[in-house]
Amino acid sequence: MVGRSVVTLDDLSTTEILDLLDKAHYIDGHRRQVAHTCDGRVLATLFYEPSTRTRLSFETAMLRLGGKVIGFAGAQLSSVTKGESISDTLKTVSNYVDVVAIRHPKEGAALVARQAASVPVINAGDGGHMHPTQTLADLATLRSRFGRITDLTIGLCGDLTFGRTVHSLIEALCRFGNVRFVLISPDELACPQYVLDRIEATPTCSYVETRDLAGAIGGLDVLYMTRVQKERFFNEDDYLRLRDTYILDEAKMALAKPDMAVLHPLPRVNEIAVEVDDDPRAAYFEQVRNGMLMRMALESSVVGDTLPGYESNEPRKVRV
Ligand code: NCD
Repeated sequence: MVGRSVVTLDDLSTTEILDLLDKAHYIDGHRRQVAHTCDGRVLATLFYEPSTRTRLSFETAMLRLGGKVIGFAGAQLSSVTKGESISDTLKTVSNYVDVVAIRHPKEGAALVARQAASVPVINAGDGGHMHPTQTLADLATLRSRFGRITDLTIGLCGDLTFGRTVHSLIEALCRFGNVRFVLISPDELACPQYVLDRIEATPTCSYVETRDLAGAIGGLDVLYMTRVQKERFFNEDDYLRLRDTYILDEAKMALAKPDMAVLHPLPRVNEIAVEVDDDPRAAYFEQVRNGMLMRMALESSVVGDTLPGYESNEPRKVRV
């Protein structure tokens, strides 16, 4: 994985993804031992779009590995305002750092960044396209809840058109196979065709589309809720009309299996009532923790720093 950029999880083999899951698990149990893994390394976070969790998570990950962090949060403080291209920014920043995490409102920006950079680039979200490190957090959460990331019925609910976390998660789960997707959205926010094509091209995966969360929830092992992506709408009225289509509350949770897991990449707006937070099936704050651990695993791997004491050929203790 050394030197590798991650624009989508297709940039990693399934073995590498499983190794990252194992590494994150190891890191969690060996915080002190790994605290100097990336001594002397520098991460740049180039965030052209708002973020709380993702940027702080990338940065905390590097700091907890002993490295340092530079970057900007908000393009208004960078040379973008002077008209600098992404390529030029990346060619510049490559001279300063060992790894870059970039978030940008335009689909494809991370690919452009990777082509220009001479250090690994990690996509921290490119428009409505992909968000691979959120998916790593999601996979870690599935594995910790179920002991596996296959043989699951997964409902994805909300903004499936613009929700990049949904697109990345489906892409990754199709790599491992044996997942039934239940795509729950209003017609206007349905999953893009290229994502459906991916499921159709996977013999062991299938999908159904529905508008009815209450009708579907009882059959789900996982419910992945998403926010309606206000910033990607062309028209405020459409956003206002669609934003509260789904609200997961105690009444709906009463229809779900006793061990269903509720995931959400956060931030939440209204789509999960706060009362659900105390339900043991709510896994979304666990997901945040897993996000940091997975970014620690990924950052140390792409810069080529070995976690002290970690044997990557260890027999896997947990089934896929
Ligand atoms: C997500 C994103 O930015 O796509 N947030 C995150 O990174 N955890 C989801 C969202 O903004 O709705």
